[in-house]
Amino acid sequence: MTVSVFVGASVDGFIARANGDLDFLAAGGGEPHGYEEFIAGVDALVIGRKTFETVLAFPVWPYGDKRVVVLSSRPIDLSAVRGGVVEQMAGPPAEIVAELAASGAHHLYVDGGVTIQGFLRAGLVQRLIITRVPVLIGEGIPLFGALPRDLRLRHVATQHYPSGLVKSEYEVVA
Ligand SMILES: NC(=O)c1ccc[n+]([C@@H]2O[C@H](COP(=O)([O-])OP(=O)(O)OC[C@H]3O[C@@H](n4cnc5c(N)ncnc54)[C@H](OP(=O)(O)O)[C@@H]3O)[C@@H](O)[C@H]2O)c1
Repeated sequence: MTVSVFVGASVDGFIARANGDLDFLAAGGGEPHGYEEFIAGVDALVIGRKTFETVLAFPVWPYGDKRVVVLSSRPIDLSAVRGGVVEQMAGPPAEIVAELAASGAHHLYVDGGVTIQGFLRAGLVQRLIITRVPVLIGEGIPLFGALPRDLRLRHVATQHYPSGLVKSEYEVVA
């Protein structure tokens, strides 16, 4: 199983404003920077409840017919999702990964700040692809948080784009 993160963040490390606003990210994700290619290779997304609430408010369900697992410790109403393949899970990240592996998934895409942090703390993320948006927003919802120990990263590649996006890929070494 491979667990990847593909996320956009301000240069000061925020994935959304404190109120959840994504206005500082370019509309539609900005110029193409590999998202379509990345998501095509993913078997399932694992997203936090707050990210789910954000995408549910989009005019169109953004994940097509890709399997989406929403994490929440309480029951959530998935009936508002039109045309998507959505289920709910909860529990320790290791159990979620094991359950998804047992159901045939090989590549998971984990998204949402708190959710990403939980999988990182559990040592379950192998690949980080972070696209820095050239802006400082001062405060907001952070991409990263506390860790029980350092996680060493191996830099794989960095690409920059005319709009100022800088995409870096890292492998988690251990
Ligand atoms: N810039 C980007 O690329 C990007 C990407 C994704 C999201 N975002 C933005 O980030 C914001 C959301 O991030 P966030 O850090 O606030 O929250 P989040 O990670 O989306 O959701 C956190 C919630 O997920 C649930 N959860 C996470 N791990 C769980 C587990 N192992 N078991 C059970 N439940 C679990 C909990 O829900 P309960 O409280 O219901 O138990 C938790 O409160 C939104 O504004 C979204 O738009 C931005």
